[in-house]
Amino acid sequence: MFKPVFTKRMALNYLGSAIKYRHNPVLRLPRIPVRFHGHLKKPNPGEELHITFITKDGTQKTFEVAEGDSLLDIAQGNHLDMEGACGGSCACSTCHVIIDPEFYDEIPEPDDDENDMLDLAFGLTETSRLGCQVFMKKNLDGIRVALPAMTRNLQSSDFD
Ligand code: FES
Repeated sequence: MFKPVFTKRMALNYLGSAIKYRHNPVLRLPRIPVRFHGHLKKPNPGEELHITFITKDGTQKTFEVAEGDSLLDIAQGNHLDMEGACGGSCACSTCHVIIDPEFYDEIPEPDDDENDMLDLAFGLTETSRLGCQVFMKKNLDGIRVALPAMTRNLQSSDFD
């Protein structure tokens, strides 16, 4: 799981917004992202891991990544179409990915929270996972991951 970070820059941004928009209660709200996702570590020379994404139109894109990067971070850091609406906190299913069956058993089992969110994903398969919960390890070098044709972002009206 990610650790929330509150940097000096975020604090200054918040204070700046609070002062600038002090007469507007909506704009005055803190505009701090849940998580700085999409930020990737540069792999050390000789320790690069490889991942191939199959996009919605069938295009394959291969990247060299570092151990520990999540599939969500890799996708967003490379401008692939993965929403990640909850910022990687396992509270949506918009980072749904379909893992190559050859690699599926190499990934630790999903926990209950991930399974609950996966149940809400469109086009669930036997090898579906949430991209924010899968992290690159040496045994995943060469993994292939497909982005589903659709994802579902729940709205409050879905619970009426
Ligand atoms: S980004 Fe929301 S569950 Fe992965």
